[in-house]
Amino acid sequence: MLLLAFETSCDETSVAVLKNGCVLANAVSSQVKIHEEYGGVVPELASREHLRNLMPVARQALDQAGVTPNQIEAVAGTRGPGLPGALLVGLRASQGIAFILDKPFIGIHHHEAHLYSPWISGDPLSLDIDAFQPNVSLIVSGGHTMLVQVSAPMKHRVLGMTVDDAAGECFDKVAKLIGLPYPGGPELDRLAKEGNEKIHQFPRPKLHDDSHDFSFSGLKTSVRYFIRDNPEVLEDGLRLRDLCAGVQSAIVDVLVKKTVRAAKRHGLRCITASGGVTCNSRLRTVLEEVCRDEDFMLRLANPKLCTDNAAMVGMVAHMRLANDCEFTSLDAEIIPNWSLEQLA
Ligand code: KG4
Ligand code: ZN
Repeated sequence: MLLLAFETSCDETSVAVLKNGCVLANAVSSQVKIHEEYGGVVPELASREHLRNLMPVARQALDQAGVTPNQIEAVAGTRGPGLPGALLVGLRASQGIAFILDKPFIGIHHHEAHLYSPWISGDPLSLDIDAFQPNVSLIVSGGHTMLVQVSAPMKHRVLGMTVDDAAGECFDKVAKLIGLPYPGGPELDRLAKEGNEKIHQFPRPKLHDDSHDFSFSGLKTSVRYFIRDNPEVLEDGLRLRDLCAGVQSAIVDVLVKKTVRAAKRHGLRCITASGGVTCNSRLRTVLEEVCRDEDFMLRLANPKLCTDNAAMVGMVAHMRLANDCEFTSLDAEIIPNWSLEQLA
C-alpha cells in the first residue's frame, strides 16, 4: 500500500510517502525564517507559505521515494486541530489529489499523529508496534502540552492539558524577553547547558496540584518580574546562562514529574513523549534518568519526528487502513478545535 500524507496544521509544510507503514520520504519545509521577524507564527503568512510550498514539497517527497503520483493508493491529510487557514490549504490539496487519483482519503487528527510518533523508529523509519506498551504520552510543543493515556493502539483518553500557555510557548516567550531569536526554545536549551540551574529558582506551576493539568503563563510572568528587578542579568553572559538553566529546569521539572505521576496513578509502566519541546536536551536526559530509576519503558520521538511532519500523519492513516477504517469524505471540513476526546 503506497500512501501520500500531508501536514500543514501550523508552520511546517510536510509531505510523506509511506509504503506498507515504512517511510520512503518525509519532506518538510519549515517557515521559521518567515515568522522570525514577528516573534511568532502569523496565521495569514503561514497559509500563504503552505500554498506556495505544498506542491514543490510534494514533488520532492515523491522524487525522493521514487514514486509517481499514479502509483499512490491512498491519501491522508491533517484535518485538525491547528490554524484554520493553514489546515485548509493542506486538507483541500490532499482531498483534491485523492479526487484526481480516484483513491480513498483519510482525514487525520494532529494529536493522534503525535501520539504514535514515538513508535516510529529504525532505518528506514517504520512503526515499531510490536514493542507497544500501554503508556502515558506527553505531547509538548509550541501549541500544545497534554498528557494522554494510550491503553492500546488507537485507544486513548486525555488526562490533562495546559490551562494557558503551552510549554514551548513558555520557552519562546521567555527567550523573547531575554532577547533571544525566535523560536527561542532551541537557543534557550543551548545557553542553559552552560548555566547553573540552582542560581535562580522559578516557580513550578501546578506541580502539587491534584490534576494532570499544566500552567506555564505564571512562570513566564515571574521571569518578566525577575528581569525587571535584575536587568543587569541580561548584560552578563554567565548570569544569563544561569537564568536560562533555571527556567528550563522549572519547565522540565513540571513536565517530568507530572508525567511520571500520571503513569503511576494509572498503573502504566511506559512513558512516551513527542512534539517540538521533546527535542529539549534536558527534558530527554531527565526523562531517561527517571525512567531508568523507576524501571519504566521510555519511547522518545526521534528528534526528526518531534516537530510537525507528515510521516506521523501517514503512520496513523496506515494504522487506520489496516483496521478497515471508514474513509473521510472529499468535502469534509477542517476542524480547527478538534479535541482528542471528540475523536474517541
Ligand atoms: O511541534 P512544533 O514544531 O510546533 C508546534 O506545534 O508548536 O514545536 C515547536 C516548539 C517551539 O515552541 C520551539 O521553541 C520548541 O518546540 N522547541 C524547543 C526545542 N526545540 C524546539 N523547546 C525547548 N528546547 C528545544 N531544544
Ligand atoms: Zn504538532
